[in-house]
Amino acid sequence: MKTIINVAIFASGSGSNAENITKYYSNVEDVNVKLILSNNNAAYVLERAKKMNIDSYVFTKKEFNSEKSIIKVLQDNNIDFIVLAGFLLLVPKILVQSYSDRIINIHPALLPKYGGKGMYGDRVHQAVKSAKEKETGITIHLVNEQYDEGAVLFQDTVPVVPTDTVSDIAAKVHALEYAHFPKVIDNYIRKIQ
Ligand code: GAR
Repeated sequence: MKTIINVAIFASGSGSNAENITKYYSNVEDVNVKLILSNNNAAYVLERAKKMNIDSYVFTKKEFNSEKSIIKVLQDNNIDFIVLAGFLLLVPKILVQSYSDRIINIHPALLPKYGGKGMYGDRVHQAVKSAKEKETGITIHLVNEQYDEGAVLFQDTVPVVPTDTVSDIAAKVHALEYAHFPKVIDNYIRKIQ
């Protein structure tokens, strides 16, 4: 019998990366995006999940941080890997330990620059613009107990010009994310599975 690798995606907002990853795997037999989870019951990612026929699960911050609750949901769904795609909460120690080296995050900048608590989405792009950076990019990394500090799996850059608005920068970064994130996830999970 063929082994299926089950992936859960955590997202707090729009979920365009979650959708891109799910579509990437829609024709792949041995990897299954099984569940999309969010801490935000108004997140657009939940609409996307519905449209793509993927089960979703919404939790409170309290539940996320409570001993075993989310882990039970993940185990009940036989989840092997977790992908954070625009997920804003710090992953609690117990979850990091239960899925050691099996949680992958994407950050919309070139870590270690512009990372850490409170650095997400347009806040990151605004900081890049304010610092007059000539380039920005994406970092795909493993998750440990600190924000944005786990081992880096992949980075790629894109130029920033002075006329770029925050939304121009966001669009360039999103394009990089769509191009690379699914493939980097796929290479990694096949390597360590
Ligand atoms: C993405 O750009 C992702 O890198 C970023 O949030 C955006 C979510 O977009 N993540 C962070 O800032 C994490 N610190 P999406 O919901 O459309 O995929």
